[in-house]
Amino acid sequence: MSGPNTDYDPVEVAAVSPAELEAARDAALAAIAAAADLEQLKAVRTEHAGDRSALALANREIGALPPQARKEAGQRVGQARGAVSKALTARQEVLEAEHEARILVEEAVDVTLPTDAEPVGARHPLTTGAELIADIFVAMGWEVAEGPVIEAEWLNFDALNLGPDHPARTMQDTFWTEPADHHVVLRTHTSPVQARTMLTRTPPIYVVCPGRVFRTDEYDATHSPMFHQVEGLAIDEGISMAHLKGTLDHFASQMFGEGITTRFRPSYFPFTEPSAEVDLVCFVCRGVDSDQCRTCRGEGWIEWGGCGIVNPRVLQACGVDSERYSGFAFGMGIDRTLMFRHGLEDLRTLFEGDVRFTTAFGSEL
Ligand code: PHE
Repeated sequence: MSGPNTDYDPVEVAAVSPAELEAARDAALAAIAAAADLEQLKAVRTEHAGDRSALALANREIGALPPQARKEAGQRVGQARGAVSKALTARQEVLEAEHEARILVEEAVDVTLPTDAEPVGARHPLTTGAELIADIFVAMGWEVAEGPVIEAEWLNFDALNLGPDHPARTMQDTFWTEPADHHVVLRTHTSPVQARTMLTRTPPIYVVCPGRVFRTDEYDATHSPMFHQVEGLAIDEGISMAHLKGTLDHFASQMFGEGITTRFRPSYFPFTEPSAEVDLVCFVCRGVDSDQCRTCRGEGWIEWGGCGIVNPRVLQACGVDSERYSGFAFGMGIDRTLMFRHGLEDLRTLFEGDVRFTTAFGSEL
């Protein structure tokens, strides 16, 4: 074992002079006072109070001083460091308070202001429904045609084989405009659009016409003086009832699902001959156990619209060669179709513009 290290002779380290210490402290205090924001104060803290700052180095040297010098040096360095750290804390508080005050002003929200965040709503189910129907036909190469809702009596009636004395005129309770001798009506069906199309185009013609129509009906859960119809017209060589049936079966299954087909019942319309009522297979019970079905009330079928082979008299009135061409036409209510499709109980919900109703349909396409 070796003996005590008697010849140990540490190098005497001199304490930092009071002047140097004061200079370091004052530089630190000046920099702290000059720090304009929290970012700057952070840099000042590293420079003047961090591990490599003059004051930290002075502090570290105290341990190396001869014992008799330590106390005094320790006091001086301690005071200087204390002053700097106090100044840092005080400045930090001031700057934080300023920062918060500025944020409160800059990001102030006046909760009493009226909001401009309006709900975006949704497209009306009648619009999207009519588009859906149009798409089904456009996919088969048909075109969409539109016409005016205020229509000439001749186009609404006469051109469609409904002469002034035709008893079927009373089938459609008409809104007439004044003066009566102008012979202008609110169209009672979209068939005048078909007349317009035939008058301006040459066959082959495949058009579908969605639109608003008007009749002097009561306003209740199943009737409205304004409603929507879609009519289709196909004029070509050799068109038959079979084409009509195939087209409507396709339309029905696209609209209501695979397996929903149609049946025809003999009927009468002045503009078609022969004419038929179109029924749909009940899309709820599909004809199975229909006795229990509330939708078709035991029928297994639901009335959908009217159709037929275009009366040659209509073709002639609209300038189409009835020897060469034949055509079929059909028409049904869009509102009624949508009521079936979406299980709506009351027609009026479609017309009353309650955004809660519309929004429920979302962005269905
Ligand atoms: N226009 C007829 C109606 O409004 C419907 C229909 C159209 C019937 C075409 C047959 C052919 O009642």
